[in-house]
Amino acid sequence: MIATPHVPVLREETLGLLAAGPGRRIIDGTFGFGGHASGLLEAGADVLGVDLDMVAQAACRDLAARQPGLRCHHGSFRDLPGALCAAGWDGADGLLLDLGVSSRQLDDPGKGFSYRADGPLDLRFDQTRGVTAADLIATLEEAAIADLLWKWGEERGSRRIARELVRRRVEEPVATTTQLREAVQASIPRGVKPEPVLSRVFQALRIAVNDELGALADVLASLGRVMRPGGRVVVISYHSLEDRLVKRFIDRERRDCVCPPDAPVCACGHRAWVRPLTRGAVVATQAEQDGNPRSRSAKLRAVEIIGNANT
Ligand SMILES: C[S@@+](CC[C@H](N)C(=O)[O-])C[C@H]1O[C@@H](n2cnc3c(N)ncnc32)[C@H](O)[C@@H]1O
Repeated sequence: MIATPHVPVLREETLGLLAAGPGRRIIDGTFGFGGHASGLLEAGADVLGVDLDMVAQAACRDLAARQPGLRCHHGSFRDLPGALCAAGWDGADGLLLDLGVSSRQLDDPGKGFSYRADGPLDLRFDQTRGVTAADLIATLEEAAIADLLWKWGEERGSRRIARELVRRRVEEPVATTTQLREAVQASIPRGVKPEPVLSRVFQALRIAVNDELGALADVLASLGRVMRPGGRVVVISYHSLEDRLVKRFIDRERRDCVCPPDAPVCACGHRAWVRPLTRGAVVATQAEQDGNPRSRSAKLRAVEIIGNANT
């Protein structure tokens, strides 16, 4: 398989919004192959590169050997207070979350992220711990597999696919990407294109295996403990489930009162502590979308921290 270079999405917009510069401490919570982080370092910022993927961490250490302003932390962005503590930082002026999977991870058959290459049905960002997609398919009840495909992939054929997987696993484990692809293809009605269904099924399993929405909810909930006043947070998401979570967070935390609209007086005591830096979501220009197909689904939202998080 030909390796696709990982081109950072919405790079210039991200660097501008994070206001990277000398003396600024910025966490890149999804270091990947350092595309965005390199720009932050070039602007003179100190960067803490966090990633669950051991290969991405090796790339971080390689770059850190040449860039004294870079530190690396193997772990999830859902525990940024722990990452800060390990780095000896007392807070951050910027945080970038460029969510999901990198092109290099998609190109690595050993991770099982793509239905296009044969490999183990793993789908973990961190292959040193946790359960794989093959484990989920082997152990979950049929209804739970169907629910997972519906909830995280919005796949309409979820019940049919779950039935086929359970039928097949009685004969042999569904343990490779090819076996999953064949099971999905066998359950698709004639005339339906398989690629979009396969994309949704692999996305659903990846989200479930890595608890991606749980991790995103946790990192948003931790911002008050991680960010310094005036700090900036940029989140780039690639599907509506993630973007909805970020949008709801901003819509709530930017408000001085979150009482129900029919409440006669405010009883919540909620105070705005974030200020949106983007009007709605920023999307890639047509030129970027033409040059980098991964950017087509990207939505960027950013906020500035203007007060203490409500407890
Ligand atoms: C889209 S890539 C980031 C690419 C990066 N911005 C670049 O320019 O090279 C997403 C990265 O986030 C990592 N990742 C996903 N979920 C994570 C989590 N909860 N904690 C830390 N890293 C995570 C993945 O392993 C992957 O390397």
